[in-house]
Amino acid sequence: MFGKVRQPPTEEQIREALKQVKFPGFSRDIISFGIVKSVAVAGNGDVTVALHIVTRDTNIPAQVEREVTGALKQFGKINIEMTAQQPPQSGQMPMAGQTAAPARPGIPGVKSIVAVASGKGGVGKSTVAVNLACAMNQIGKRIGLMDADIYGPSVPKMMGASGQPTITDEKLDPVENFGLKMMSMALLLDSSAPVIWRGPMIMKAIQQFTLAVNWGELDTLVVDMPPGTGDAQLSLVQTIALDGGVIVTTPQDVALEVARRGIAMFEKVNVKILGIVENMSYYVCPHCHEHDDVFGHGGGKREAERMEVPFLGEIPLFTEIRICGDKGLPVVIAAPDSVPAQAFHRCAEAVLKQLNQTL
Ligand SMILES: Nc1ncnc2c1ncn2[C@@H]1O[C@H](COP(=O)(O)OP(=O)(O)OP(=O)(O)O)[C@@H](O)[C@H]1O
Ligand SMILES: [Mg+2]
Repeated sequence: MFGKVRQPPTEEQIREALKQVKFPGFSRDIISFGIVKSVAVAGNGDVTVALHIVTRDTNIPAQVEREVTGALKQFGKINIEMTAQQPPQSGQMPMAGQTAAPARPGIPGVKSIVAVASGKGGVGKSTVAVNLACAMNQIGKRIGLMDADIYGPSVPKMMGASGQPTITDEKLDPVENFGLKMMSMALLLDSSAPVIWRGPMIMKAIQQFTLAVNWGELDTLVVDMPPGTGDAQLSLVQTIALDGGVIVTTPQDVALEVARRGIAMFEKVNVKILGIVENMSYYVCPHCHEHDDVFGHGGGKREAERMEVPFLGEIPLFTEIRICGDKGLPVVIAAPDSVPAQAFHRCAEAVLKQLNQTL
């Protein structure tokens, strides 16, 4: 008749248990993401947890709710008050459940900073970043290019740049090529030196890259992100004062949630999504210029529509793009009238439009 009286849990116990729940797609927990708005334990031991999620993916709130219920079931009766909201597409006002933007310092003289990212490696982020940057420069913008890929820096090779950056006023002078300013870890390290840096050191290095570089006056600084959308990349986009993110995908990856993960990463830190670029969209034969949809072209556009983000354009799979990349002469520079160069130009114009920069 008199069962064991259950001690009501403390708020700390509830919060500790909530730390075991990861935000879908990330290894970070929902407490550190700021999704848990309040935890209350009533006199009778009932627990009420208020959650607020900013997401475009309608499956996420239900998934988080299920996992929270599972993590707290040991504590008896649990009420979950869930509110969910779509992220903004333009303004930079931080919203509940998102990391506030003001913590990210801008770079004096740099009007906008744009990151090029992807949920996975090898989709052509660096190729897109380099050619977009060159195309924006050809449109008449003052452009900087920052290689944030510490482990596999490829921008200097693609840009045909080498040499050690000099230092002026205790800041690194970017290397210049084709009218663009550029900084990369590859310029600072001997190519045979192993990169053994981890987490916090990488963040420090990236901060140095953005803040301790004499970028001068720039319309846009394009940042080539390391592959993936995990915690390291998330911290990186938090470190840099980004104005927008471009997601690169190939048509078949789109079906595999890769673009969605990229979008989620930027949304978490309240960075505007400028849109999706579909790379290796279709094959253009260099001889007859015949098109072939190798990977099933159009997935990027469909995904952009589904996620309600802009579609910035399609870049064909074109042998010349790779050859130019290997030669250190971006295709936009080497053959500005070619099919791929024109495609990069259309994307560059779309990005500038999203940034509200006049052409
Ligand atoms: N549209 C394209 N047509 C032909 N080759 C391409 C195209 N896009 C990229 N490539 C080639 O694919 C390879 C991978 O591209 P890239 O290095 O830009 O990808 P990435 O996403 O930056 O890779 P990582 O994840 O390693 O940083 C390179 O050899 C590049 O030249
Ligand atoms: Mg790359």
